[in-house]
Amino acid sequence: MSSNPRVLIADVMSARAAEILREEPGIDVDVRSELPGNPAVDQIIQDYDAILIRSATKLAAPIFETAKRLKLIGRAGIGVDNVDLQAATANDVMVMNTPLGNATSTAEHAIAMMMTISRHIAAATASMREGRWDKKLYKGREVTGKTLGVIGAGNIGAIVIDRAQGLRMNVITFDPYLKEERAKELGVECVSLKEMLTRSDFVTIHVPLVEGTRHLLNATTFRHMKPSAYLIHCARGGIVDEAALVEALDLGLLSGAALDVFETEPLGKDHPLAAHPRMVLTPHIAASTHEAQVNVAVQIAEQTVAFFTRGERINAVN
Ligand code: MLT
Repeated sequence: MSSNPRVLIADVMSARAAEILREEPGIDVDVRSELPGNPAVDQIIQDYDAILIRSATKLAAPIFETAKRLKLIGRAGIGVDNVDLQAATANDVMVMNTPLGNATSTAEHAIAMMMTISRHIAAATASMREGRWDKKLYKGREVTGKTLGVIGAGNIGAIVIDRAQGLRMNVITFDPYLKEERAKELGVECVSLKEMLTRSDFVTIHVPLVEGTRHLLNATTFRHMKPSAYLIHCARGGIVDEAALVEALDLGLLSGAALDVFETEPLGKDHPLAAHPRMVLTPHIAASTHEAQVNVAVQIAEQTVAFFTRGERINAVN
C-alpha cells in the first residue's frame, strides 16, 4: 500500500476536484460522493489523511476519536458549521474553506430574492399555474432609490453592496468589524443594527452563524423594521429566529421575507414558513450555480495539493 496521503471526497462536488488531485502523483484520492454524508463516512474515515466535504457530511466531535490519520478537512464552500472546529483543533486537524468561490453566486441570489419578493414573482407564477390572471393583485415596488440594509460587509456582503449600488439603491451596513477605510472604498454608511433596521426598505443578511449572530433577528429586532420592509436571508439557518419571523409577519411588523436557509434543513412542508403567503422560499441554493460549484471544487483541491506538497495553509479557519 502506498504511503501517499489519502484524500476522501465525501460529498457531491464537481469532478474537477478529483481530477486535480489525481494529477498529483504524491496524493491518492477516493471519491465516495455516491453516498454523501454520514454514516458512510464514519465507517471509513480512519483510512484517510484528508476529507473534502460540502454540507451533507457532519464532522462532530466523536468522529475525531476514530479519524486518527486525519490532518485536513477541506470544505468546498464557506460555512463550516457542519464541522466541530474545537474538536478538530484539539486533534490537530486543520480545517480550510473556500471563502471566495461561491460569493458571487450567493450575492446574486440575494439580489434575485429581493427582486422576486418586491415584484411578487413567485406568487404570480403560482397563481398563473392555477389558471388565474391576477393582474391587479400583484402591484410591486421599485428598488431604485430605496434603502438596502446589509448585515455583514464581508466577501458576499461587499458584492451585494456593489450590485445594489448599480441598481441605484442607497446602501447602508451594519458590520462591527468593518474598517472605516473599507467602508469608504465600498461607499457605504455604517450604522447600528437598530438604525439599519429602522431605515431600510430591504434588509439582507451576510454573516456566518456563530454564537454572536444566533437569532440576531428576533422578536425584539423585528419591531425596529418598517412595516413595508422585506427581509432577505441567504446566509445560515439560525441567524433568524423563525418562530419570531412568522409572528412578526402575522403582526405586520414587516411585509415579507425571502429565505434560502433554515434552522432545520430540509424545511418540512408543514413548517409555518412553508405555508406563509408572504414568504419566498428556495432550498439552500444560493451557492448552487455551475460556476460556483466548479470554483469551490477547484479551489479546495488546489488548497489540498498545496497543503500536502508544500505545507501551505490556505484559507485555514482554525
Ligand atoms: C456555503 O456555505 O458555502 C453555502 O451555504 C453552500 C453550501 O452550504 O453548500
